[in-house]
Amino acid sequence: MTTYDYLASLFSLSGRTAVVTGGSSGIGRAIAEALAQAGAHTVLVARGADRLESVASGLREQGCDVSTVVADLSTRAGIHAAADGVVAAAGEPDILVNSAGINLRPHLGDVDEATWDLTLTVNLEAPFLLGQRFAPGMAARGFGRLIHISSQQAHRSFVDSGVYGVSKGGLESLARSQSEAWSARGVTANTLVPGFVLTPLNQRLQDDTERVAALAARTTVGRNGLPEDFAGAAVFLASASSAYVTGHSLFVDGGFSVH
Ligand SMILES: NC(=O)c1ccc[n+]([C@@H]2O[C@H](COP(=O)([O-])OP(=O)(O)OC[C@H]3O[C@@H](n4cnc5c(N)ncnc54)[C@H](OP(=O)(O)O)[C@@H]3O)[C@@H](O)[C@H]2O)c1
Repeated sequence: MTTYDYLASLFSLSGRTAVVTGGSSGIGRAIAEALAQAGAHTVLVARGADRLESVASGLREQGCDVSTVVADLSTRAGIHAAADGVVAAAGEPDILVNSAGINLRPHLGDVDEATWDLTLTVNLEAPFLLGQRFAPGMAARGFGRLIHISSQQAHRSFVDSGVYGVSKGGLESLARSQSEAWSARGVTANTLVPGFVLTPLNQRLQDDTERVAALAARTTVGRNGLPEDFAGAAVFLASASSAYVTGHSLFVDGGFSVH
């Protein structure tokens, strides 16, 4: 067996279909690019059609098989429409990555019901409903991968964790529940836990250079995260090689959480 064949037997996603919500930006984009380049037909889901098409066309130029679905995951109807759009574009998926997320950051005392509902719907209810929609089919076929993007704020509170931290704590519990429900039939459920990653999500914080440097100093690696730091971990969790890893929270945070 050649080195290439050996690595392909562990990590190739050829013949798989992957869905990445939030695949048009930041961490989701880097994960979508990694899964597509590892061989999966990859479906990118987000609201903005232009950004989706720009990422998709870049990947198609590299020979990847990519589809896009414009959908708004902030309502139940939008989540169901997203799932319908995925099936129409690519059939039933084998891999679901929930990266679409929002962080509105008001002080908890200022969190109103609309902020609570919006954050919980995009960050937690969409991963739940998409899992309900796709995981039973994955289990029936004997292979599935559910991958969520959580946060340090699932584990500790800082910079107004508020309802965002609640949503991410729920997401890690959701992965454990999904693991219990479906892992015996080949469907694993895991969470990637970023540190502070330089993406459009936290552009406002990035404008404070002292804050950014302080966050980098909190890691043991000595720098803040980049979207491409998630590529290898995502391919691993999406691949056949992670069959015995489930219900796990994998910190991809440069050591942010270890001290
Ligand atoms: N960056 C960090 O430091 C960090 C740290 C911890 C956890 N995370 C988590 O990592 C995930 C990705 O974050 P990121 O930093 O990559 O953010 P980002 O660059 O802002 O990307 C967010 C993505 O989600 C999509 N999205 C947002 N609201 C949506 C909605 N209502 N319906 C459908 N799609 C929607 C956006 O596209 P449209 O706007 O076009 O819809 C975009 O593709 C999030 O779950 C976030 O909580 C990030």
